Amino acid sequence: MRCVTPSKPGPIERGGVARSFDAHARSYDKLVGSNPGYHEHLRLSAKRMGLPDRGAGLRLLDVGCGTGASTAALLDAAPEAQIIAVDASTEMIGQAQRKTWPRGVRFVHGNAENLAMSGIVGPFDGILAAYLLRNLVHKDAALRQFHRLLRPGAPIAIHEYSVRDSLRSRIVWTAVCWGVIIPMGRLRAGSGDLYRYLWRSALRFDGVTALTERLAAAGFEDLRVQTVPGWQQHIVHTFLGRRPADPTPAIDPEANTPAEGINMTKGPPPEPGPA
Ligand SMILES: C[S@@+](CC[C@H](N)C(=O)[O-])C[C@H]1O[C@@H](n2cnc3c(N)ncnc32)[C@H](O)[C@@H]1O
Repeated sequence: MRCVTPSKPGPIERGGVARSFDAHARSYDKLVGSNPGYHEHLRLSAKRMGLPDRGAGLRLLDVGCGTGASTAALLDAAPEAQIIAVDASTEMIGQAQRKTWPRGVRFVHGNAENLAMSGIVGPFDGILAAYLLRNLVHKDAALRQFHRLLRPGAPIAIHEYSVRDSLRSRIVWTAVCWGVIIPMGRLRAGSGDLYRYLWRSALRFDGVTALTERLAAAGFEDLRVQTVPGWQQHIVHTFLGRRPADPTPAIDPEANTPAEGINMTKGPPPEPGPA
């Protein structure tokens, strides 16, 4: 079986991905709810971020939060954290806001490619981007922006489809999309457009190696990739990294201080002369 990677942009790419989610917002939860493992895998990625102390005192960002499935996963990993969840689709975020959330969770309508425009500023103690990066136009710039928004040493988790490096993954992906996801989208939402786009965009998106390199180029370190169980094994992955911790200062302020210290009240000690 040969997997075809289409080269021309479809109507969804031209019209803006987030706007296309508007039309599917009401059926989205039902559709992903019938995908075995969807919520469990999001929880796994959030847990893999290794957030300490149930998130107490942490400020986290869920970028591309949709109807809040990834926000709930982040909350599961860090129930005491403050979470800002942002999405560019008013309908998707509207669905998220209809749910019950603790006081520390705030939803913001905004574009992930320019978060400052929506008043979102760092530093954050962790960022989760679930099924978002593939949809962005300027992926490298977005990753550099996430890097800037993180506190030094803080983690990022990119939860994404990545099938390009494996023929087997592309075959399974294509079979599941055309056998289940696209027909189900047609049935539940009245149109398979978004789900055909999903199939196509994952085939076109970075393989595991390319995405890891992209993260490294954006400045992330400590990069690790883990997949998930179920039919999504080697199809859905958690790409983990962190912003490097601040470097230790190159100049040791103690290095030129004599053991007896410097008496600052009497001026500098006399220059050593000939004995
Ligand atoms: C597949 S959904 C994933 C939602 C959620 N993270 C989850 O795991 O269920 C992708 C979301 O990304 C949002 N999105 C796409 N492009 C965006 C952009 N440029 N800025 C913000 N959100 C965007 C869409 O509106 C959609 O809600």
